[in-house]
Amino acid sequence: MNTFTPHLLVGKTAFVAGGTSGINLGIAKRFAALGARVAVVGRDPDKAARAAAEIGDDALGLSADVRDYDAIRAAMESIADQLGALDIVVSGAAGNFLAPILGMSANAFRTVVDIDLNGTFNVFRGCHDLLNRPGASLIAITAGQAVNAAVLQAHACAAKAGINQLVRVLALEWGPDVRVNGISPGPIADTEGMKRLAPDEAAQEAHYARIAMKRWGRIDEVAEAAVFLCSPAASYVTGTILDCDGGSQIGNASRIDLARGMT
Ligand code: HXC
Ligand code: NAP
Repeated sequence: MNTFTPHLLVGKTAFVAGGTSGINLGIAKRFAALGARVAVVGRDPDKAARAAAEIGDDALGLSADVRDYDAIRAAMESIADQLGALDIVVSGAAGNFLAPILGMSANAFRTVVDIDLNGTFNVFRGCHDLLNRPGASLIAITAGQAVNAAVLQAHACAAKAGINQLVRVLALEWGPDVRVNGISPGPIADTEGMKRLAPDEAAQEAHYARIAMKRWGRIDEVAEAAVFLCSPAASYVTGTILDCDGGSQIGNASRIDLARGMT
């Protein structure tokens, strides 16, 4: 895709937490393709090394758990030492599984909130003095579950709703120097998230029914949204959640074919 000028991010340093697979890896690769120096972090060191190799020769892949503030802070310090002050920080690490509230132990609920919400706090809190200011751009990866309650998703709904508010507070507090936004992807094909959330045809149909555009999204489409948010084109955009979801959250699209047949 050639949506943006190929040198858009030359001279920029980008850090992607949870960038060792899926959507976040797609974002990291797109940043690198546009000229940025890129580092990714996940828990699994081998996966992080493989991701860095896929991103490019100069990319870094480090291992740290976003639930551990000191560990993620140390990783970000090491990245800033090697690649320079951070211009772009993406917080995308997440955990998910389908379970009803009564099928979730306190630790199960806490685990997802800890990775998604506390992890995002740790990443953003920890990067502040490593940022290139003014002009830095922070992006949290959230989800429609933040706004629309979903069964079997109490942990993720609560965590992602918290992320949306954290984005807004950070945008207010760090406003003059740093822009802070979120991206809310819809169901994205070929991802771990959708393997877990829509493991069978019935679940896939239920997701599909909500989507105005009547197709699942692609990783590269979310990556383009991330590029937009950290580009000069978004220089006056902060504190917003950008839905990149084919219209999944705007209402009930399950009768859309009927409506189209009438017009
Ligand atoms: C009920 C479960 C469970 C399940 C785990 N637990 N799976 N409970 N149903 N299916 C419980 C465990 O029994 C344990 O509680 C607690 O959760 C912690 O489990 P651990 O395995 O010890 O945790 P950990 O090793 O830290 O692994 C975290 C994880 C794992 C979330 C459970 O699945 C993971 O690492 N996921 C990362 C990859 C991922 O999920 N990608 C998709 C993200 S996409 P007890 O009480 O037994 O100790 C995404 C979807 C789209 O987020 C957006 C929607 C918001
Ligand atoms: P994924 O491939 O499982 O990516 C999750 C990433 O986070 C991996 O790099 C994983 O690496 C890392 N990670 C997990 N727990 C971590 C921890 N405690 N500390 C550090 N890193 C950790 O998932 P995905 O489906 O692409 O989802 C990516 C993001 O998009 C998530 O924020 C998700 O909520 C959001 N989202 C996805 C969809 C979708 O359709 N897939 C829809 C809406 C929102 P390790 O396992 O090695 O740690």
